[in-house]
Amino acid sequence: MSAPTPWGAWLEEYDTASYQLSRKAGWDAFVNAAPRPRFEVLTRAEMRALDEDTLADYNEARRVWNANPPTIKTQQLTRAFQVLEQVMASGRRDGDKLRGSAVVDAEPGLGKTTIATRFAREVHRRGYRRHGPFTDDGSQRLPVAFVPLAAGVTLKGLNQQILKFYDHPAAERANNRTQLTSLAVDCVTTCATRLVVIDDLHFIDFRHKNGIEVSNHLKSLANALPVTFLYVGVNLMAKRFFDEGMDGEQAVYAQMSRRATRCPVTPFSIDNDAGARAWTDLLSTLERHLILADGEPGMLVAQAKELHRRTQGRIASLTNLIDRAAYLAIASGTESINAEILESALTDNAAHRLAGTA
Ligand SMILES: Nc1ncnc2c1ncn2[C@@H]1O[C@H](COP(=O)(O)OP(=O)(O)OP(=O)(O)O)[C@@H](O)[C@H]1O
Ligand SMILES: [Mg+2]
Repeated sequence: MSAPTPWGAWLEEYDTASYQLSRKAGWDAFVNAAPRPRFEVLTRAEMRALDEDTLADYNEARRVWNANPPTIKTQQLTRAFQVLEQVMASGRRDGDKLRGSAVVDAEPGLGKTTIATRFAREVHRRGYRRHGPFTDDGSQRLPVAFVPLAAGVTLKGLNQQILKFYDHPAAERANNRTQLTSLAVDCVTTCATRLVVIDDLHFIDFRHKNGIEVSNHLKSLANALPVTFLYVGVNLMAKRFFDEGMDGEQAVYAQMSRRATRCPVTPFSIDNDAGARAWTDLLSTLERHLILADGEPGMLVAQAKELHRRTQGRIASLTNLIDRAAYLAIASGTESINAEILESALTDNAAHRLAGTA
């Protein structure tokens, strides 16, 4: 085999990563991943001088690069981090006292999981820096556990998912609820976990028997464990997460409402100056990231209104649209994202439907 081209070598190291965040090994890899190094943008003439294979490697490397912008410190993310830091302040209470929890609650595609995983990554790194990779009794320290839920999750499923994160051999075997709970408590305590992130909490139906069971169990875990819980989900307020599915006066007794601090995440709005500025700042960060031969500064900012119409100011729809537009810019040889390319790039179903009515 011939030696790899410079971009072939880059791809060997930095190709699309498949982290399994729901397992400690995958989470650890995510936390410790070095950022991809940027490479130089070639001019059209320089691209023409490359042989076929080298050009193919260069194009593939920039597709990977373009599809992976860094996490941007949007206002939404910065505000959410401030709320989460405040909630974590009570996490320093001694272990006999109850900690508060935080809830990132918003509509789909607004960056909830990104906020939670990036915040948790910082907590993890901070924990390592301060206390090192091992606990006092020599166990692996895992400051954060990340537990994504699946549809129709049951109490047993939740406990299993927690055990799976810790790679506990009993995750599949143990059947008994009490046993699963005490194993979960064991894992969290042994690994000195401080923050447990439960993602996609909307999969719990708080009005259904199974859901109420899971919700009660989460409360008892919060009582039993010296950790802060960070819950993430879609429209949890409307789904009665805070009042535990109870109606009217009964809701007064819902403990979750007193224990949890809600952290909303909103779409970008361009109706006022500050909002419009935040949107163009986001676009200018994203356009600076792209590696395209004719990718001029301002190419996305110039289309700020149209991009907002197509995506309704939702970051997930926006990054999808830009990924695809950048792909088309390379494939078509346009090497820039102009209005035409943008028009042929597809958005997700919801964004497409809503753009049609705007
Ligand atoms: N701060 C950010 N910087 C850059 N890209 C972001 C940021 N936040 C979100 N994104 C982009 O939006 C996509 C969707 O974000 P994320 O998965 O966090 O949203 P979500 O609200 O959890 O969505 P869902 O409701 O589907 O669970 C991400 O894959 C990423 O491309
Ligand atoms: Mg999510």
